[in-house]
Parts: sequence; structure tokens; C-alpha cells
Amino acid sequence: MTAKKNMTFEKDQTAKLLQITESLNHIKDIDALLDRILLEARKFTNADAGTIYLVDNKKLKFAYVQNDTLIKKDTIYNKYIYKYHEMDVNKNSLSGYVALTGKSLIIDDAYQIPKNIPCTFNKSFDEKSNYRSKAILTVPLKTSAETVVGVIQIINAKDKKGNLVKFTQQDKLLVTYFATNAAIAIERAKMTRNMILRTIKMAELRDPRETGEHVNRVGAYSIEIYEKWAQSQGLSMEEIKKFKDVLRIAAMLHDVGKVAISDTILKKPAKLDKNEYEIIKYHTIYGARLFKDPTSDMEVISAQVCLSHHERWDGHGYPGKIKNIYADDIKIAGGKKREEIPVSGRIVALADVYDALISRRVYKNPWPEQKALDYIKEMSGRQFDPEVVHAFFSIYDIIKAIKDRFKDEA
Ligand SMILES: [Fe+2]
Ligand SMILES: [Fe+2]
Repeated sequence: MTAKKNMTFEKDQTAKLLQITESLNHIKDIDALLDRILLEARKFTNADAGTIYLVDNKKLKFAYVQNDTLIKKDTIYNKYIYKYHEMDVNKNSLSGYVALTGKSLIIDDAYQIPKNIPCTFNKSFDEKSNYRSKAILTVPLKTSAETVVGVIQIINAKDKKGNLVKFTQQDKLLVTYFATNAAIAIERAKMTRNMILRTIKMAELRDPRETGEHVNRVGAYSIEIYEKWAQSQGLSMEEIKKFKDVLRIAAMLHDVGKVAISDTILKKPAKLDKNEYEIIKYHTIYGARLFKDPTSDMEVISAQVCLSHHERWDGHGYPGKIKNIYADDIKIAGGKKREEIPVSGRIVALADVYDALISRRVYKNPWPEQKALDYIKEMSGRQFDPEVVHAFFSIYDIIKAIKDRFKDEA
């Protein structure tokens, strides 16, 4: 079997591998990329299942799971059984062991691990899903600095007839190749995220009106409102989870365009006059411009939020439809209406206004909670999307918890 597999590799696989590497280079979104890397690694090794775990806070988290056998059994439970689990980086699981040692591991039968390999196989997932893992190939995702950022695990190799077979050294090489690609992508995504978090810090320092806690609250309110709204739209859990990840950061960046507004306006310790207010409207456009040529969903959604968080459901917001946000002579006139405004903008609009109303600002006292809630109700269908308002009120207990968690310093 091994000899035959190697022969075919020589002939066809190299060309295919090059082709796939080329197409991977065109995937900008990290989630889509890692999902595709897992799929290709499985295809090359003809494996039934596979998982990519990511290291997060010294834990391994299931990030991407594929399983041909379980997906055929059509319960939703099966599809998500592996999601949102985590395990420690230690010898109590194969992936934990590989993350710990940084060394790849080929196991012929997960239920009979050779005595010279000092780790155990975690059977709990097999038990929950009624699956039988046999041959397992586990490879660390290592960055150029040799840091393990995750693990890719490929399960149950099959021959052409569908019989279970062992993984080979050749398979290990192939999966290591994909693992390197995945590690580079993860490292790049982390850099983008860190850059964005630093940008948020910088914007906070510029604008005394926007405290760090305000930004944290708006991020948290927004993702919770989104989750509720998305459930009512029937979006899948996977889609919701993916969007929540990017929406939090994007929502935190809503006012980042204020970095381009002059200090005299930004730091004025009073309400802005009409002229100043007109100038400050441009922070929406300046913000969106920061994300020119986006390389991730996070940047795309951040641009959306920056541009549209002052639009109103009834069309009386700003900046409205602008053909080219990079033009020199942009005139702000007439807002976007209803669904013309992206849902990210509709949600952040409500989260931002609610938080601004109930917070103290240099020029105003905080509104009493009930007054703010009455205002939001009154503005449903006018300033705010009624469905978003509905989602807000149906998770109001979570909103209150977020408020308590990110309190302004007295
Ligand atoms: Fe704003
Ligand atoms: Fe704000």
C-alpha cells in the first residue's frame, strides 16, 4: 500500500500540491483558509476526519472540525459536537501532547497507543459522537520562531476501497507542509488583530469623549445583539460565531476615524456647534479609509461599521451613499435607509447611542436608565432598525451584565 501510494504521489500529487498552494494564496479570510487547509490535508491523505486546534491561553481549542462520516448522519448535534471544546496542553490527549512537545505523531490505533509514547487518547469525543478513531496523524502548527500556535490532526486514513489504513511517513510530510501554511496564516492574522487593538488604544488617547470602557461595552453589546438578531434570522451557529469574532473588534473601532479630526474640535469641553458637528461627521469616512485594501473579514466589517454607525433606519443619518470614499471633495448629504445600511452598522448605531446616553460626558450628565430605554423604544423604526431594537430588549439582562463588567472609572 505504502509503495503504491508513494508512486502515485510522484506523478500527480506534486503538480496538484503546487496548484493548491497557489489557490491558498488567494484566500484572504483566515477562517476560510484554515478550513480549506484542513480539507486539502485530508484529501491528500484520503482521511475521513480532521481537526485544527488553536492554542489560546495555554489551552487547545477546537477551531475547525471536519468529519465525513458524522456529517452524513444528519443530526445538527453531530455537526457541532466537536465545537467549542477545549483541552489542556498536556499528555492527556494526543493533540495536547503534540502541542507540548512540538513533535509530530503517527498512531496506528488510537485505542492501542504504543508504550513508548507517554500520552493517552481522549476518548470522550468518540463516545459522544459514536465515532471510532483509529489511525491518527497529529502535526504541530509551528511558526517561524518555533512557537506552537496550534495542532492539525488527521483521522482515519482510507484506501481506495474505503478500508481503514495506516498513515505513512509520506502523509506526515504532506500534512507538515499544510501545517506550515496554516501557521503562517495564523501568525499573520494575530498580527493584524494586535495592530487593530493598538489602533483602538491610540484612538482612545486622542478622544477624551470615548473612554476605553465605552469601546469595550459597545463591542460587547454589539455581538450579543447580533447573536440574538442572527438567531431570529435563522443563521447557522457557525456563521454566527464567525461574525461575532470580527464584529466585536469592528464595533470597538467605530470612532477610529476621529484620529483625523482636529484637537480643537475633539477636545472641546462643551457641545459642538453646527459647523464643528458638520466637520466631525467626516470621522465616518476617515475611519473607513483606514481599511483600504482589506486582507481579512475583520477589516471589511470594520470599514462597514466606521462608515455606517451614524446612519439612521429612516434615512436621516449620515454620511449616506458615497460613490468614492477616497475622493477629495466629498459632500455629506442624505443618509442610507433601512437595509441599505449593513446590519453591522445598524447594530453598532444602537449600541453606541445607548451607551452614550447612559454615560457621563464632559458636557452632559448620564441619562437615567429608563429614559434611555424609552428613547430607544421611541426611536424604533426611526433612528433604529426595529428588529435590532427587539433583539436589544430580549437580551436586556445581558446588556446590564456587560454594563456592570465594564464600568467607567469614577
Ligand atoms: Fe461616531
Ligand atoms: Fe462611541
